[in-house]
Amino acid sequence: MRNILIAGNWKMNKTIAEAKEFAEAVKGCELSKHTELAILAPFTQIAALKEALKDTDIKVGAQNVHHEPSGAYTGEVSVAMLKELGVDYCIVGHSERRQYFGETDATVNIKLKALIAEGISPILCVGEPLAARQMGQHLTFVGSQLVTDLAGLSDKEMEQLVIAYEPIWAIGTGETATPEQAAEMCGLIRGIVEGLYCDRDIIAEHIQILYGGSMKPENAADLLAKEDIDGGLIGGASLKVDSFLELATIANEA
Ligand code: PGA
Repeated sequence: MRNILIAGNWKMNKTIAEAKEFAEAVKGCELSKHTELAILAPFTQIAALKEALKDTDIKVGAQNVHHEPSGAYTGEVSVAMLKELGVDYCIVGHSERRQYFGETDATVNIKLKALIAEGISPILCVGEPLAARQMGQHLTFVGSQLVTDLAGLSDKEMEQLVIAYEPIWAIGTGETATPEQAAEMCGLIRGIVEGLYCDRDIIAEHIQILYGGSMKPENAADLLAKEDIDGGLIGGASLKVDSFLELATIANEA
């Protein structure tokens, strides 16, 4: 059985003081053996969160990284810099980064490799725009995105990867994919991974595939009940202590 990962994507929200307050409020929460919690925070909050959560099982991650080890890349942060902070996860290829910051499948691919080489688990985001779904092309859209993003990753590298299916039309809109729509795509993703890698059973059976897009306590239980959905990448509902804790409880019971 795969663990359930509830990963809060804070996006560009919270100050260090607010992050510490949040960590204090959630750090005592009980997690079942199969529940994992993570907070994916802006760079400035990572050190404070690591410190506040150090005696807990709650993981801390980043939302982006640059693939080059160092150099003249004003405003960027390297994998080694994240590693020094003790980061466990890093989101790669979120649709907001693809849309507003020119992230491409090519840069996504090198970022995945750079992170895995340093032992940080990437959370690779894939997902279709509304137009692709309306034209019935969502499966081919996400399938080809996934194959390009994973190009050249070895079986061993895949073991560290988490994938999140985030339909763009459901992010921050309040409109969630139905459990059936989300499960169909997560199943397709697992099937593609199975087809691409030799160590099929191990990789396809163990890889965690999350759903993201207006996931919240009200819809989480139905989504997590689906066999191929192993957790959530949660934006809005991860910003409030109450809903984050509720999601952890739902995962405990899933
Ligand atoms: P949302 O964001 O839960 O606010 O829709 C999810 C995400 O963008 O990761």
